[in-house]
Amino acid sequence: DWTPASLRQEAVEAIRQRLGQGQVIVALSGGVDSTVTALLCREAVGDRTIPIFVDTGLLRLGEGDKVMERFAAYGLAVHRVNAAPRFFAALAGVEDPEEKRRRIGHEFIAVFEEEARKFPQARFLAQGTLYPDVIESTSVKGPSATIKTHHNVGGLPAKLGFELVEPLRFLFKDEVRRLGLELGLPEEFVYRQPFPGPGLAVRILGEVTPERVALLQKADAIFMEEIRQAGLYREIAQALAVLLPVRSVGVMGDSRTYENVVALRAVTTEDFMTADWYRFDGDFLDRVARRIVNEVRGINRVVYDVTSKPPGTIEWE
Ligand code: XMP
Repeated sequence: DWTPASLRQEAVEAIRQRLGQGQVIVALSGGVDSTVTALLCREAVGDRTIPIFVDTGLLRLGEGDKVMERFAAYGLAVHRVNAAPRFFAALAGVEDPEEKRRRIGHEFIAVFEEEARKFPQARFLAQGTLYPDVIESTSVKGPSATIKTHHNVGGLPAKLGFELVEPLRFLFKDEVRRLGLELGLPEEFVYRQPFPGPGLAVRILGEVTPERVALLQKADAIFMEEIRQAGLYREIAQALAVLLPVRSVGVMGDSRTYENVVALRAVTTEDFMTADWYRFDGDFLDRVARRIVNEVRGINRVVYDVTSKPPGTIEWE
């Protein structure tokens, strides 16, 4: 029987054996799996670990900086690539959700490959692949995966020529979380709600531009802050804000406004295959809506999504 401590020890030992004197690149997404993977590598081979963080510019407000701080606390020097301009260029004029995912996937691999080439001495690539990912890629995909291609940004193709190290490939999410706690990661990080690989790009309906990302980031940050403050974060499986491709008329002071609409969504679920919309109380929604309209210039209307899955999906794209 394993404990988080024994799991950690075994994983570290296995990485050590596998790498010998080699160096290992870790592709950091900012999520729990890649973070735990990087920390295991560091424990196994110290600064022969080379973490690369491709900042797509499509993460939540301030998230890129938080990734850097998190690793600085462990004394790991992360190579951050500020690739936002490249991703915005790749997404220019693109409205179709699947096309967005494709372009982001391609761009991610291109940027990562370029950065990795700066470390020609590294022969290994560590990835935070979990057991369910292993199963899914070798068996029939579930309904959700067949409706949308779920590009897990961070899943890199074999053609990059690295030897793959996957220390989490026999673990379920819950085991990885406990391993994360064992490694000293804070509970609020380890129990984070899932965030899609393509990031905010699939939460901006229509074209993705830097201005629209900035708008959505602010609204999303207010929503998430209020959820945390109300003590609802763990009760809700996933909460998100979506920027709609329409404008609506509003009134502010004495003048008419014609601005953007944000939709809020929160769900409870066991497995993300089906989900129920979350019943916030009216005062909570009122507070969030007022704050968003008052604090985010360019948004004058907030709506709440009351569609369950099915027929709705969790994301809007
Ligand atoms: P849907 O919208 O299909 O979402 O009900 C189910 C879960 O999958 C996440 N999701 C994605 N994750 N890449 C990801 O890594 C994607 O392209 C993607 N699309 C949806 C979604 O956030 C939810 O947790």
